[in-house]
Amino acid sequence: MILDKSQQLAAHVIGQVLGGRNLAQTLEQLGRQHPQPTPQQRAATQDISYGVLRYYARLDALLNRLISNRLDDEAVRCLLLAALYQLEYGKASAYAVVDHAVKAAASMKKPWAKGLVNAVLRNFLRRRATLLTEIEHDEQARYSYPRWWINKLKQQYPQQWESLLQAGNARPPLTLRVNRRRMSADDYLLKLEHAGLDVRRLGQDAIMLAQPVPVEKLPGFAAGEVSVQDFGAQFAAHLLDVRDGMRVLDACCAPGGKTGHVLELADVAMTALDSEEARLARTRDNLQRLGLSAQLVTGDAGDPAAWWDGQPFDRILADVPCSASGIVRRHVDIKWLRREADIANFAAQQSRILRSLWRTLANGGKLLYVTCSIFIEENQQQIAAFLTEQADARQLAPNEPGTGQLLPCADHDGFFYALLQKI
Ligand SMILES: C[S@@+](CC[C@H](N)C(=O)[O-])C[C@H]1O[C@@H](n2cnc3c(N)ncnc32)[C@H](O)[C@@H]1O
Repeated sequence: MILDKSQQLAAHVIGQVLGGRNLAQTLEQLGRQHPQPTPQQRAATQDISYGVLRYYARLDALLNRLISNRLDDEAVRCLLLAALYQLEYGKASAYAVVDHAVKAAASMKKPWAKGLVNAVLRNFLRRRATLLTEIEHDEQARYSYPRWWINKLKQQYPQQWESLLQAGNARPPLTLRVNRRRMSADDYLLKLEHAGLDVRRLGQDAIMLAQPVPVEKLPGFAAGEVSVQDFGAQFAAHLLDVRDGMRVLDACCAPGGKTGHVLELADVAMTALDSEEARLARTRDNLQRLGLSAQLVTGDAGDPAAWWDGQPFDRILADVPCSASGIVRRHVDIKWLRREADIANFAAQQSRILRSLWRTLANGGKLLYVTCSIFIEENQQQIAAFLTEQADARQLAPNEPGTGQLLPCADHDGFFYALLQKI
């Protein structure tokens, strides 16, 4: 019963995302449906939706081989994708998956759908091995990325493109950052072990869980002892090199992951800016939970005249909006929502923000430029162009471990860091 409903719900979610909507927001809105799905149904729906979008090109290629003409009915197509994902990657029995899909099709009041769904899924089970061999020759199906994305990585990473594509399809780990104002990472590690969780220390404040758990299950989470943050994202606050008393701007702060980390490291006067008020509210909640404070400002980082009081900042964190190509294992919808032309638009926006923020930096001050992208247009090319035209800028320690391009791997997502100083 649970499987039946979650399969249908996932088909709905997948249809929305392929139509251009954000996956996390679409899943969040499931809670407002009537009747409300149970927590188990929501978890199963999330699992199927993430799975289908992680392997969408692969499942779509299989489906196209099972149907002679492309299926025009998007609702039935998404139901088939959900069922194919479950058959190929799920734990439920093939009988239950097919049975539930057929019942879901029958409830759609499309007389042809029930027979088609039944035939396609049974055909898949019969021909599975042959079909899987056939699609191995199709790179889009094999790696499950859009063609332009595969081509870009081949061109920009001739050696690593394949491992980068594969890293983006892995299930992401849950990594924590211990709030050192509350307790040491060693002490928190013991707490996790006492709670029976299998954990591994990654860095100064970072601990990775072998199996993700809901945050409510983390000891001391509500009390602000710990935050969820990828290990690669935890490099930012350390690189920024903050000290007590500094004036710091976090220019694209929401939801405040890095803002909190900086404030855990030093007593600074923090201005936390973001252009989206709703996202800024999440920064407020996060800082409150951690027992930290900042001046929260809604505004455009590219237009300092609207929010800056003219006092230069000693440190600026510019975690600019980007393609998010380095964090696809967490945001599987990005592969299908982004278009190739978006990359140039992001680069233009990043360039505008970087140049505007530079004017608000004190002489001798440092600005950390950050993206969660692996595309060079947003990273190395952006910084090279900036340094060419900005005579008062130099890049610090460009070759030190932890700066430059951090490629996604088992321990962390993909990030780019460039530390710039005003001279
Ligand atoms: C990569 S996210 C920041 C993540 C955040 N630093 C953290 O660690 O939790 C980028 C943020 O930039 C914000 N943003 C986009 N355009 C902006 C602009 N022109 N000015 C300020 N913020 C902007 C978005 O709303 C988004 O919250």
